[in-house]
Amino acid sequence: MTVRTVAFDALAPETHEEVLQKVFAEGDIDLVLLAFGVLGDQYADEHDPMAAVRVTRTNYVGAVSSGLVCAQALRTQGHGSLVVLSSVAGERARRANFIYGSSKAGLDAFAQGLGDALHGTGVHVMVVRPGFVHTRMTAGRQPAPLSTTPQAVAVALEHGVRRRARTVWAPPALGPVMSVLRHLPRPLFRRLPG
Ligand SMILES: NC(=O)c1ccc[n+]([C@@H]2O[C@H](COP(=O)([O-])OP(=O)(O)OC[C@H]3O[C@@H](n4cnc5c(N)ncnc54)[C@H](OP(=O)(O)O)[C@@H]3O)[C@@H](O)[C@H]2O)c1
Repeated sequence: MTVRTVAFDALAPETHEEVLQKVFAEGDIDLVLLAFGVLGDQYADEHDPMAAVRVTRTNYVGAVSSGLVCAQALRTQGHGSLVVLSSVAGERARRANFIYGSSKAGLDAFAQGLGDALHGTGVHVMVVRPGFVHTRMTAGRQPAPLSTTPQAVAVALEHGVRRRARTVWAPPALGPVMSVLRHLPRPLFRRLPG
């Protein structure tokens, strides 16, 4: 298998059309995995609006522009999956990471709507909501309950693509857990650790 890379900067949305169209021009693409993102430093970024904006521009604005370019190219092909790495953090933003969480909430809503827009075109959009994954992004942080590995997320993602799922939680137990947490009264939710 040959792997080729091209330079891509989520923070430069004005370049996305040109960069990504060149990639699609080389041949049909079966799977687009939109997996870039930054966590930021919540407590520092609260006092540094431009740093907070960098998180939201990367995770949300960058995904909107690149996601739309990819969606259009996939629609033209008439097949393929667009897999978007959202997060449980977007399901209900917590005090400890609401800047990142809000960017993922926006991304998640965007991806769900895009899936509806592409319904019936042959293109499949799948939103993946992992919990705490042991990656460079979370290195040195206290693992949250139900923490998982990139390998386990990849397996869940592959199964989801094969059955053309709309949403994948990783691990799956996070689906019911988050549906409870989402409805927890705020005074209780605020008291949860982390
Ligand atoms: N780790 C978790 O607990 C967790 C949980 C839920 C969701 N997620 C999501 O999963 C995805 C992958 O994250 P990860 O955990 O694998 O973290 P990671 O190892 O830090 O990977 C983040 C990736 O985003 C890329 N990136 C950052 N800024 C970029 C920019 N401006 N332009 C282009 N690429 C950029 C990085 O590229 P470079 O290598 O060039 O820096 C890197 O490949 C992210 O969307 C993240 O929000 C992670």
